[in-house]
Amino acid sequence: MAIPSPNIWHWPELYEIENRAQDADGAVYRTLSGLVDWTDGVVVDLGCGSGFHLPMFAQSASSVIGVEPHPPLVAAARRRTRDVEHVRVSEGTAESVPVEDGVADLVHARTAYFFGPGCGAGIAEAMRVLKPGGVLAVVDLDATAGAYGRWMRRDLPQYDPARVEKFFEAQGFDLVRIDTRWEFPDRDALRAVLAIEFTKRTAAHAFEQTPGVALDVRYRLHTRARPTGLVL
Ligand SMILES: C[S@@+](CC[C@H](N)C(=O)[O-])C[C@H]1O[C@@H](n2cnc3c(N)ncnc32)[C@H](O)[C@@H]1O
Repeated sequence: MAIPSPNIWHWPELYEIENRAQDADGAVYRTLSGLVDWTDGVVVDLGCGSGFHLPMFAQSASSVIGVEPHPPLVAAARRRTRDVEHVRVSEGTAESVPVEDGVADLVHARTAYFFGPGCGAGIAEAMRVLKPGGVLAVVDLDATAGAYGRWMRRDLPQYDPARVEKFFEAQGFDLVRIDTRWEFPDRDALRAVLAIEFTKRTAAHAFEQTPGVALDVRYRLHTRARPTGLVL
């Protein structure tokens, strides 16, 4: 089921600025590519939004499939990738992926809040589309770390990061934490992005607390491979 994502659903042009600012040094891609080799392989990007990450995967994969439930974003992802070879974008959800069994080397989901406690159907569906040995990689923000994590916890007091991590651990995922730097072109861009991520009060506080144009933000990368044989 599609879970609304106010930032990218309502302000796609600001989310684009956010995506460009995120992980300015490429630490997430570097860590991910050290764990999974998708060269000449098939990548499925779940909740691909406007398709920001699809061209990067298409540089080395033989086929990239973006899956997104929100029709305007499906259209935006198709527009972004219309001249990129080997990319297709389909409407769908993590729980119902329009991809055949056993074809993917990597199933990727970035800032994928729809993967958390209760997402068993999504995990089972990812395991279905993965080849044996293929990997499901869930990348999300780490609300336990730094100022950005504090601002998240302030706005989401009911969100329990430890519960989320325990869920993934119990489902057999490995966890890597990745420290990144977000870098904005100017302070107006920083202010605008904070305003789509936080309540008015927290966004104003966050802007005051940030002296320049950069933020330190930690991610969680949860990975789980589809077993290659009988698990005894
Ligand atoms: C925060 S956005 C991230 C978009 C993209 N991954 C990126 O990094 O630019 C989360 C996306 O997940 C999509 N989404 C929401 N519920 C979903 C579900 N059940 N299955 C797959 N995608 C979902 C939203 O429509 C939105 O595009």
